[in-house]
Amino acid sequence: MKIIYAKDYYDMGRKAANIISAQVILKRDCVLGLATGSTVESIYKNLIIQYQKGDVDFSGVRSVNLDEYVGLPEDHDQSYRYFMETNLFCHINIRKENTNVPDGMAADVEAECMRYEDLIKELGGTDLQLLGLGHNGHVGFNEPDDKFPLLTHCVQLKESTIKANARFFEREDQVPGEAITMGIKSIMQAKQILLCVSGEAKAEILKKVLTGPVTPAVPGSILQIHPNLTVVADEEASSLL
Ligand code: GLP
Repeated sequence: MKIIYAKDYYDMGRKAANIISAQVILKRDCVLGLATGSTVESIYKNLIIQYQKGDVDFSGVRSVNLDEYVGLPEDHDQSYRYFMETNLFCHINIRKENTNVPDGMAADVEAECMRYEDLIKELGGTDLQLLGLGHNGHVGFNEPDDKFPLLTHCVQLKESTIKANARFFEREDQVPGEAITMGIKSIMQAKQILLCVSGEAKAEILKKVLTGPVTPAVPGSILQIHPNLTVVADEEASSLL
């Protein structure tokens, strides 16, 4: 595991964006596993700047997003597809048909999970998987449990996750109670994992994830055994390491 210490949120965004750009430069048709949330917003802003400067070309890149709320259409401003379009995809030259986010409106959610899992395989697996970290240690939407969920599945969101994500909605009761998420095996099969963490509120959970026991009660702790994990954490998030 490599830990890269960043000064603050903006510096974390710059450093993580550089790692992603390097991946795209090294392999122009790479498969990027992408994430949503406030942490990655800063990374995407920096990727857009690098693209605008001509430093990086996304025309060959394929992407698979980690997760999506069940019941939100693509054009809902809190759907993860909408987040990806507005925060990254529509500002760079990635081809829309090469971007993938689970379909939260699928009539058959189980079939959608299987389709998504097959899609990751068809793409040849993920070269670099970007991850944020939930306050309860979740990665994607893999919530604390008594076992690691392996493949893409539909998950019942924990009360704490609904509360944490309510800040993006007008009211807490508008946060969907379910989501489709890649499983732990789907995430761990990536050739490289880039975990990005910012802010004091994540310091304790980051310490548990990186130095505590590997347990499904802290889903992110599984990352300790990934052969190619890079963590970019700012001063506040890494203060307890
Ligand atoms: C959501 C997403 C996760 C993300 C987490 C942290 O629950 N499903 O993939 O890592 O939030 O988000 P933030 O970066 O906003 O703290």
